[in-house]
Amino acid sequence: MASIPEREPNREGVEVASAADRDWEAAQTRARLRMARDQIEARGVRDQRVLDAIRKVPRHRFVPLESVPLAYADQPLPIGAGQTISQPYIVALMTELARPQPEDRALDVGSGSGYQAAVLAELVREVQGLEINEALAQRAGSRLRQLGYHNVEIRHGNGYQGWIEQSPYQIILVAAAPDHVPQPLIDQLAPGGRLVLPVGRHLQELRLIEKQLDGSLVESVHAAVNFVPMTGDPERR
Ligand SMILES: C[S@@+](CC[C@H](N)C(=O)[O-])C[C@H]1O[C@@H](n2cnc3c(N)ncnc32)[C@H](O)[C@@H]1O
Repeated sequence: MASIPEREPNREGVEVASAADRDWEAAQTRARLRMARDQIEARGVRDQRVLDAIRKVPRHRFVPLESVPLAYADQPLPIGAGQTISQPYIVALMTELARPQPEDRALDVGSGSGYQAAVLAELVREVQGLEINEALAQRAGSRLRQLGYHNVEIRHGNGYQGWIEQSPYQIILVAAAPDHVPQPLIDQLAPGGRLVLPVGRHLQELRLIEKQLDGSLVESVHAAVNFVPMTGDPERR
């Protein structure tokens, strides 16, 4: 198991990356490129912008220290508070289904570690994130700032209600499973917008809901998935 190198102060006492540091980061980058090729492209994700974002975002910075050696493995990982960072392929698939455009504004419901928000932030103009666990929301927000993601804002809140002040959104991604499609999320989707979410209690389906310019909805199902359940007070239709 690789250990994470310490930073060394230079002659002025400023912390700089040591050679070991640089080698270690290079190994993380190689693992990330392999992950993109073997887990994501190999399963059929083709959008080059999405693949580039996955190749760029340092997933190892979004997991707890003890999980860093598994950061690029083909699996979800615990992030504390009984929650998980989703499997890399599922993040890529949801992002591709949302067809991100550079001018889009996105809502990321269930921001958890902030990793999905960072992937979106590479692809769209602005990302708003909602996370129901306050400690996770704070941690994700400060991690994203540290990594230089200035087009992301994470708020502690209940995703069933969406974030109306910042709506409408061209993209809404949901990373926890409700047993029905929350109406506020449909309402906060812009005409032409795409909502991607898992729906169901035990067996869940990953749905893409596209709002047409006349406000009508077109739904399609893309995979069987296994997300943590959405918690908090549901807003029923
Ligand atoms: C699978 S994890 C999220 C993974 C996240 N996208 C990432 O990249 O790390 C699901 C998250 O949804 C959050 N969650 C569950 N119900 C929620 C709700 N009603 N509103 C907002 N967040 C919620 C959980 O606390 C958890 O952090």
